[in-house]
Amino acid sequence: MTITNESSLDELFQVCSSRLKNIFSFYLQDIPSLELKSAMEYALFNGGKHIRPLLIYATGLIFKAPLENLDIPASSVEIIHTYSLIHDDLPCMDNADLRRGKPTCHKAFGEGIAVLTGDALHTLAMQIISSHPASLKTDRRLQMMEVLSKACGPFGMAAGQTFDITVMNDGDISADLLDDIYKLKTGALFTACIELGRLASADDDEFNQQALQQFGDCIGFAFQIQDDILDIITSTESLGKPQGIDVKNNKITYPRLHGMQHAKDKVQQLYQEALEAINYLGDDAQLLRELTGYMLQRQK
Ligand code: IPE
Ligand code: IPE
Ligand code: MG
Ligand code: MG
Ligand code: MG
Repeated sequence: MTITNESSLDELFQVCSSRLKNIFSFYLQDIPSLELKSAMEYALFNGGKHIRPLLIYATGLIFKAPLENLDIPASSVEIIHTYSLIHDDLPCMDNADLRRGKPTCHKAFGEGIAVLTGDALHTLAMQIISSHPASLKTDRRLQMMEVLSKACGPFGMAAGQTFDITVMNDGDISADLLDDIYKLKTGALFTACIELGRLASADDDEFNQQALQQFGDCIGFAFQIQDDILDIITSTESLGKPQGIDVKNNKITYPRLHGMQHAKDKVQQLYQEALEAINYLGDDAQLLRELTGYMLQRQK
């Protein structure tokens, strides 16, 4: 099955999950340690929503990027995201027992294997960008490597996660610092997804780059606020992760600092801003627009 930017959201979901499954199976097949391989499979094949790869495919299709080019960032971002969740759940971080409805990686395999599974996934993402057989040019691969490593490393997620475990228990945290932490720990990877989708095409237009960055910044920030709202209002069963863990860990979150109604309003406002940023793309961005609507409505 193939897709274009005129496909339905359901078709996008199906194509995305089957392509990811094939790529993950291909890259995991010859791992010499069976224990590591099982833990990587456990983490990757367990029902994540695949929001980030979906965004990559939907963005790339606006610019007619070939699907096999889009496979590269879609799979590597999902793999990095999965690694970040394994580490995020460890006892030394959020100490969570449940992820995507199953025991967390360290609960199933032990902490040592969970740390190594995260390490292995992180580096596998880089291996895929550099070695995937698609005909994507080397300079584009290098640009992708730069965008992704900036979003995940000390200038992005790793810094955000460090703030998360060092200052987010502090009752004096300012609203601005909280916003910055959300943008680093979660937003940066979303902004990168949108840029990576475009980089899988031949597009080199600076206006597009800036508009999409604005779009990515807004939905990424909104995504973490939603996550914190859902932690309060949605059951463990439907979340597939422990409800109320932010309160349990005494985290200052957006709804806690600003109140629930303000948090919900902020999410609406950010999605509105995101849609305005891509309005000029007209029908070409219809699939991305529908995906944005789906994200706004999400219950888990
Ligand atoms: C959870 O991300 C972590 C955050 C950055 C809020 P997702 O909600 O995308 O998790 P999965 O991949 O669907 O499990
Ligand atoms: C985002 O925050 C985590 C990462 C950036 C990996 P959370 O700690 O709130 O994510 P969940 O709720 O555990 O999925
Ligand atoms: Mg966390
Ligand atoms: Mg967590
Ligand atoms: Mg959370």
